[in-house]
Amino acid sequence: MPAHAPAPDPSPAAPRPLRVALLGCGVVGTQVARVLLEHPDDLAARAGAPLELVGIAVRDTTTPRDGVPPELLTDDAASLVTRADLVVEVMGGIEPARTLILSAIEHGASVVTANKALLAEQGPVLFEAADAAGVDLSFEAAVAGAIPIVRPVRESLAGDHVTRVLGIVNGTTNYVLDEMATQGLGLDKAVQQAQELGYAEADPTADVDGFDAAAKAAILASLAFHTRVSIDQVAREGIRSITTDDVEWARRSGYVLKLLAIAERTAEGVAARVHPALVPTDHPLAAVRGAFNAVFVEAEAAGPLMFYGQGAGGRPTSSAVLGDLVSAARDRLVGGKGPRESAYASLPVLAADAAVTRYQVRLEVADRTGVLAQVAGVLADHGVSIDTVRQSEALTASFEAEPASEPAAEAEPEETEPLARLVITTHAAREASLAATVAALDGLDPVRQITSVLRVEGV
Ligand code: NDP
Ligand code: HSE
Repeated sequence: MPAHAPAPDPSPAAPRPLRVALLGCGVVGTQVARVLLEHPDDLAARAGAPLELVGIAVRDTTTPRDGVPPELLTDDAASLVTRADLVVEVMGGIEPARTLILSAIEHGASVVTANKALLAEQGPVLFEAADAAGVDLSFEAAVAGAIPIVRPVRESLAGDHVTRVLGIVNGTTNYVLDEMATQGLGLDKAVQQAQELGYAEADPTADVDGFDAAAKAAILASLAFHTRVSIDQVAREGIRSITTDDVEWARRSGYVLKLLAIAERTAEGVAARVHPALVPTDHPLAAVRGAFNAVFVEAEAAGPLMFYGQGAGGRPTSSAVLGDLVSAARDRLVGGKGPRESAYASLPVLAADAAVTRYQVRLEVADRTGVLAQVAGVLADHGVSIDTVRQSEALTASFEAEPASEPAAEAEPEETEPLARLVITTHAAREASLAATVAALDGLDPVRQITSVLRVEGV
């Protein structure tokens, strides 16, 4: 080394802070801000540079936010995203979140989002923009709250073939069904409690009607099968029609009702669905209580894997957001980029009625000789094979007597028709065959009511 060469600097200049913009300061955003403000040294050490919170976009800057300095708040999100290295989007909804994320990417920022609704509807546009700009778009918090599931499916299983993903991915509905089963609460009261606990979406319809779980199923299916699956391609049924009677009946017959998300790869393509299902009480999913989530992943080489943890709530979700933020900061400091979207397989996405599963049909029929044979005949005609039939306690319902040709002098005493309640469990059948069977049963003379039709999973 020449004598005049400068000696190597033993203490290289500290990296400049990375500017973080936070979009949203609600249930999740408040917790993200709190950690950024309370643990700067830990985060700097883990990321490799200080993470400086430069602004927080909200709608109403006058609302006090627990532990958040008001001077950080702004209602000018559009300008905030242009002066950040890292943008965290936890405002939710499609717009203005979509435009703000695209603007952030265009200005060279990496983005962390928890917005599953946006990803399941507009994912490809956002991923293409991020890939073109060479920045990260990370979304661990978008699926199953605190549970690391995006990274395992996207990265840890990148060398395997995932065949099925099945789980409870919505904390609100799991909490609601649990409260209905254990506390006897009605659906509306349980939803209100879930809102108060910060589990529900801004509009809890998204949870109750299965949109939130369908968005997560679309994201998981896209990652697992390297195929773009949008929320519109997920067969969806929520828990709105579930009654305390359904929950109680499930309990008595050895099941627990759960809202499940299922994504499968079959010989024909990829199928994704969300619906309530009866799960046997000894199945691991039956033990998932409150707002917890659990996801099973089946892969050809790895075999079955299970992921479990808190699926909703501000603090648990902030853990996943901050994990992504530290990773994005590290990538930025080394000039690297996280995984790109992988949709190379482009498998066909199958229609909802192609799904094959078992069903439990509860119905009330006239308690007459030969009715069971008639009902069984309808199932056989539609190629639906019966596993078990149970006749439960007989009920009694009043029915109108045939009107007499002459007006009766005195009112006839009301006659009653003996009814029987049948519970039919089928072997696996196609959704389309079951739907046709139920329609035919509904038109059958002795059938008084189809009380419920529920899928059975995990047997
Ligand atoms: P909140 O409704 O509690 O918070 C939303 C925040 O975004 C509020 O601070 C709101 O401002 C702000 N905001 C909304 N729209 C705008 C706008 N147009 N301009 C500026 N600010 C806006 O939602 P959450 O924190 O519960 O959820 C945020 C995101 O995280 C959603 O995408 C959700 O799906 C996702 N998520 C939520 C989880 C949870 O358990 N809550 C779990 C996992 C993901 P202001 O306060 O002024 O109204
Ligand atoms: N509303 C969502 C849920 C938040 O209840 O699961 C977590 O994504």
